[in-house]
Amino acid sequence: MRYLGNNRIAVNNHTISFNDEGPDNAPVMIFIHGFPLNKTMWNKQVEVMIENCRVIAYDIRGFGNSDAGTEDFSIELFVDDLLGLMDFLKIEKAMLCGLSMGGYIALNAIENFPKRFDALVLCDTNCIADTPEAKENRMKTIESIRKNGLEQYANESVKNLFAPESFVTNMEKIAVVKKIIMNTSVQSISRTLYALIRRKETCTNLTNLTIPVLILVGREDKITPPEAARQMQKNIKGSKLNIIEHAGHLSNIENPYEFNIQIEKFISSVKSK
Ligand code: MLT
Repeated sequence: MRYLGNNRIAVNNHTISFNDEGPDNAPVMIFIHGFPLNKTMWNKQVEVMIENCRVIAYDIRGFGNSDAGTEDFSIELFVDDLLGLMDFLKIEKAMLCGLSMGGYIALNAIENFPKRFDALVLCDTNCIADTPEAKENRMKTIESIRKNGLEQYANESVKNLFAPESFVTNMEKIAVVKKIIMNTSVQSISRTLYALIRRKETCTNLTNLTIPVLILVGREDKITPPEAARQMQKNIKGSKLNIIEHAGHLSNIENPYEFNIQIEKFISSVKSK
């Protein structure tokens, strides 16, 4: 049975919100959003991908319309939620596409449950754990949100998330992302920052990957720059890397046209194997 369209179901002691669209027997692609966004960041990809794939985009716990639950957030918990959603939907194997934190979740899921995934798209992400400096910055962010609230945090965040040129060409998209951040709860943002601080590296597993992997990164990504993508590509046998022009960290939002061309090419190559 399919739960077509927008749904909420109980998984792992919380309620998870997801969209399930596209043909019944097509290959399954699951989109995992970045921090601190939600599944709507994939709207422009879902629109085109449903032609050839069954497409699932879901909200990570605490974001969008998914409940936060009571457990401490961790990448491992987010992976359990993903597997719980796949089990509920009776999806044996899927392709994953994760941006930034979505990529951290995808890499951890593939390391721990390799048999459940048959292709991977890593967007604007990295495999390293936080450096001591990054951990300290996240702690400062938690404190600053507590003191100054989310509006200031949203204004600061978009400066890092978008390429400088997007502040001229993509003002409406920046406004939408700011709104998403301001509509997220302070608690969920802080709990996720702790989860990011505690996350483990996934670089040592890259050489074990045998599935097709595409790596996409915005030319102007300051958070997970093209050099990080090149390092991952070196270690993943047979992987492809494309730099998305006119984009920063949110390459799928800033340049959906180029991003979609690359992802569609990749899916056709995977299907023809
Ligand atoms: C994201 O876009 O998910 C975040 O930038 C990830 C991070 O802060 O490490």
